[in-house]
Amino acid sequence: MTTTDFWADFDAPAQAPAVEARPTTPASAAVATPAPSPAPVPAAAPQVDPASSADDLVTGLGSIDTTGGRVSVSEKSMINARADVNQLLPLKYTWAWEKYLAGCNNQWMPTEVGMQADIALWKAPAGSPGGLTEAERTMLKRNLGFFATAESLVANNIVLAVYRNLTNPECRQYLLRQAFEEAVHTHTFQYICTSLGLDEGELFNMYREVPSITEKDAWALQYTQSLEDPSFRTGTPETDQAFLRDLIAFYVIFEGMWFYTGFAQILSLGRRNKMVGIAEQYQYILRDESIHLNFGIDVINQIKIENPHLWTPEFQAEVSGMLAKACELEIAYGRDTMPTGMLGLTAEQCERYMHFITNRRCGQIGLPPLFADTDNPFPWMSEMMDLKKEKNFFETRVIEYQTGSGLSW
Ligand SMILES: [Fe+2]
Ligand SMILES: [Fe+2]
Repeated sequence: MTTTDFWADFDAPAQAPAVEARPTTPASAAVATPAPSPAPVPAAAPQVDPASSADDLVTGLGSIDTTGGRVSVSEKSMINARADVNQLLPLKYTWAWEKYLAGCNNQWMPTEVGMQADIALWKAPAGSPGGLTEAERTMLKRNLGFFATAESLVANNIVLAVYRNLTNPECRQYLLRQAFEEAVHTHTFQYICTSLGLDEGELFNMYREVPSITEKDAWALQYTQSLEDPSFRTGTPETDQAFLRDLIAFYVIFEGMWFYTGFAQILSLGRRNKMVGIAEQYQYILRDESIHLNFGIDVINQIKIENPHLWTPEFQAEVSGMLAKACELEIAYGRDTMPTGMLGLTAEQCERYMHFITNRRCGQIGLPPLFADTDNPFPWMSEMMDLKKEKNFFETRVIEYQTGSGLSW
């Protein structure tokens, strides 16, 4: 797989998922299994000090075991690992390492994007020729209001709930990169807020004060709150499923569904040459988020492969219900942000788009589609991933943020 695959198929018609969802398919395991590394010491040697507590094994911060053997690939696992979490090599989950490299190659900062055109347009009197309509201003504020705190919620979930329970160093390496990217995204909304002179109290309190935003965030938070209990530990079917619910709620739903109405709204404005600076920043966020989503999907599917007993018919039905509810909440948010629609974009189109996205996310984690209408009303969204193709689109200055040679276009 080239690194391009991490986002290139994002809004395209359904294709085979990045990792085969069926847990027992040998091809699935091949995605996560690199060439075997030579074992420098007898594999049978104990890996950990028997006196080490389970917490020490999970955190990697316990006393150092000087008597055990070296880690072998076969001992690494996604959750409940017994192998030392401080030893990145030998690599087992090469897909996680490759996503870490792809993320590093996409380095960008919001302050590198010029905001002059956006500031002039935002400050232009309502109704002036070429200015923003009231509907566009309402959409813009509620869109920014959702993202301004959503990035922090996602970051807190990664750092305070996911990191501890994902017990291999390849995935933790990616999580550290993702955490930084979420900080860059939060920085973006701080930069937009101060550039446009928006009311920061209004923007950063929308998740508490605008019901359609509160309902989404409160729904997702219930899944991270269950892991927030300091005594929470994976290791039983119930707690392992609780961890899977958190991963699905945040990676598949929050980052994989709920960001997409917002991306489509802003990029639609950008296509009409409005708020081109914000649109350019959203393009970079979209590119980052598509890797976050695909990392999450690979994590979920790999946990299923290693723990097939968790993916029961009852649990699958529950997860389908989660995606259905999330889709409903997102459609309500779409209506709330665009009660009268905008030029080229309506709440009805956003509803169809969310059905398309929901079906796609179902397929990526091995569930049947939820909706019959599967056409994509915004086919141009997939082109927004390809910044080289689109670099002159907004007629802003050309910036190519690829800093490495990891991508083949
Ligand atoms: Fe983000
Ligand atoms: Fe993200």
